[in-house]
Amino acid sequence: MANAWFETVAEAQRRARRRLPGSVYSALLAGSERGRTYRDNLAAFAELGFAPHVADLPAKRDLGTTVMGQQISMPVLISPTGVQAVHPDGEVAVARAAAARGTVMGLSNFASKSVEEVVPANPRTFFQMYWMGSKDSMAGHMERARDAGVKGLIVTLDWTFSHSRDWGSPWIPDKLDLKAMARLAPQTLARPRWLLGFVKSGRLPDLTVPNVSEPGRPAPTFFGAYGEWMRTPPPSWEDVRWMREQWGGPFMLKGIGRRDDARRAVDIGVTAISVSNHGGNNLDGTPATIRLLPGIAAAVGHEIEVLMDGGVRRGGDVVKAVALGARAVMIGRACLWGLAANGQAGVENVLDVLRNGIDSALLGLGRASVHDLVPGDVVMPPGFTREIG
Ligand SMILES: Cc1cc2nc3c(=O)[nH]c(=O)nc-3n(C[C@H](O)[C@H](O)[C@H](O)COP(=O)(O)O)c2cc1C
Repeated sequence: MANAWFETVAEAQRRARRRLPGSVYSALLAGSERGRTYRDNLAAFAELGFAPHVADLPAKRDLGTTVMGQQISMPVLISPTGVQAVHPDGEVAVARAAAARGTVMGLSNFASKSVEEVVPANPRTFFQMYWMGSKDSMAGHMERARDAGVKGLIVTLDWTFSHSRDWGSPWIPDKLDLKAMARLAPQTLARPRWLLGFVKSGRLPDLTVPNVSEPGRPAPTFFGAYGEWMRTPPPSWEDVRWMREQWGGPFMLKGIGRRDDARRAVDIGVTAISVSNHGGNNLDGTPATIRLLPGIAAAVGHEIEVLMDGGVRRGGDVVKAVALGARAVMIGRACLWGLAANGQAGVENVLDVLRNGIDSALLGLGRASVHDLVPGDVVMPPGFTREIG
């Protein structure tokens, strides 16, 4: 049998591509419009270099840190993603992998597994919500997450319902009924290992979102919930403050790209922000998050925890982000490629790849701890950063 272990996230992505039906793979690859933001998230990390030392290097390096009160073994968290149809164990497998590697699981309200199933797999789970539905229903979802034992809330605000891609979007059915199965048959039958995984688990992906269901009602389909989200008028800062107060515990705002919005987030009392452009799936043309991070970290990093996500594929990327002011990073696709390639073990593999890369960069930079990293550890080309707001 071929070796299931992979040495880079790029290899995990190649395996995911070979394993997943075409429409599932392209739904994860996503991006929007020209794909400029998606590509810039990756390209910008490659523009940054390191300034290494050769002696007086630390024999041991400490990668641990805390995020929103949770001790984690390295500055990497799982970013919330709806992982419909990637793997039968879905977010439960991701949560177990994150727990095994000592980090936090971010669970999307568009996930395929319920918060009640995921928290036992990883007690250090942050639950993510969009602004969607009535305040009563949002308060109900927060209460449900709190009762399930989640340790923090992530509120994602940067979605603009962009639906066009120059390279075309995959067809995803609302339900996997017979008609949909027939239409998808050519691509699913071409990916027997993926299909077999679901057949063995006893059920096909049902494409529902159990964390969005109302008490006593069946879980809506992904697209049913998406429609409700689209119809919900977008929130004001006062609405976000309401959410923060309603939650009352550790609270992260995800999707910040401007310094003035970061300041508003501080004013309403958030615990943390994630500098994010939704992995380039959203308003195309938004700069890479690593370009925005230094300005935002300088503006509010002394008052709240500043995280970032977008384009992180190796441990060196994590070290660059931390050196430029991030407390930690969150990973989206890297985790999904690992899950598609090899289930829970694949996500653990991705986290190990990142851990080794972080450790190796710390050694080269002569830093005994992730807390010792400074901007001077990174070689930045002129004109790299973008400061907006
Ligand atoms: C397929 C997919 C689904 C996503 N779903 C969500 C979601 O439900 N909630 C959310 O806050 N962000 C979601 N995101 C954004 C991620 O949390 C994260 O911001 C992004 O993936 C980071 O970029 P990266 O994929 O380059 O790591 C999704 C991203 C992808 C690729």
